[in-house]
Amino acid sequence: MRKKIIAGNWKMNTSLAEALSLIGQVNLSVQQQTHPLLQTIIAPPFIWLTEATRIAVTTNGLQVAAQNCHHEKSGAYTGEVSAAMLASCGVKSVIIGHSERRQYQRENHAELVQKITRCFEEQLHVIYCVGETLEERDTNRHFETVKKQLQEVLGEINAEHASSVVVAYEPVWAIGTGKTAGPDQAQEMHAFIRKELQTIWNAEVAQNTSILYGGSCNSGNADALFSCADVDGGLIGGASLKADEFAVIRNIMISKLA
Ligand code: 13P
Repeated sequence: MRKKIIAGNWKMNTSLAEALSLIGQVNLSVQQQTHPLLQTIIAPPFIWLTEATRIAVTTNGLQVAAQNCHHEKSGAYTGEVSAAMLASCGVKSVIIGHSERRQYQRENHAELVQKITRCFEEQLHVIYCVGETLEERDTNRHFETVKKQLQEVLGEINAEHASSVVVAYEPVWAIGTGKTAGPDQAQEMHAFIRKELQTIWNAEVAQNTSILYGGSCNSGNADALFSCADVDGGLIGGASLKADEFAVIRNIMISKLA
């Protein structure tokens, strides 16, 4: 069975005090309520990662991810953070290709391939984000966009590394907007992504790859989304900043595993 994953992307939020409190609360709730097939991930800002890995009890299924890494190994890149640094402080995975970075940092596909390669060199897993803009969906180019994002990046990754990749479908129009893809839209795209993974790698890998939904996912819509056959969990933004809300979303996923 594919691994189910609930991941919280904190983006550029939280003070030190808020981060410590939130890490502690999430850690406690994972200790109290967990399932062997559920992986819980939190992705705090870089600066809190060491605290997060120190507090997180990974044996209970709580892992710490970073929101990005630099595409070079090391060197004179002021202000940047390498995959090796992340691995050395206990981070287990890295979010790569988030639409906010594609948009604001102009990250291109060649750079994303390099970042993913750096992650694998450090035995880090990758949560690779794809998703179309509203304009692309409105003009019926959403499949084309996602296909290109998959082919030009994951197409460069050897199938032997595929078990270290999770894909997150995050329609740009649903991120932080309160608009969510309906379950039918999510299932349709997730099935399409799985079919593309089969073309890029093979059928077995495609069946075993977890595909997460992201974009205004919350306790009110998680049940419908997680009921979809090809939705293996969520990459949660705003709702992951509230420990109670995040716990409810996790429990909804656990209920699907019962
Ligand atoms: P929201 O849940 O705030 O819409 O953010 C989703 C996201 O971008 C997660 O990476």
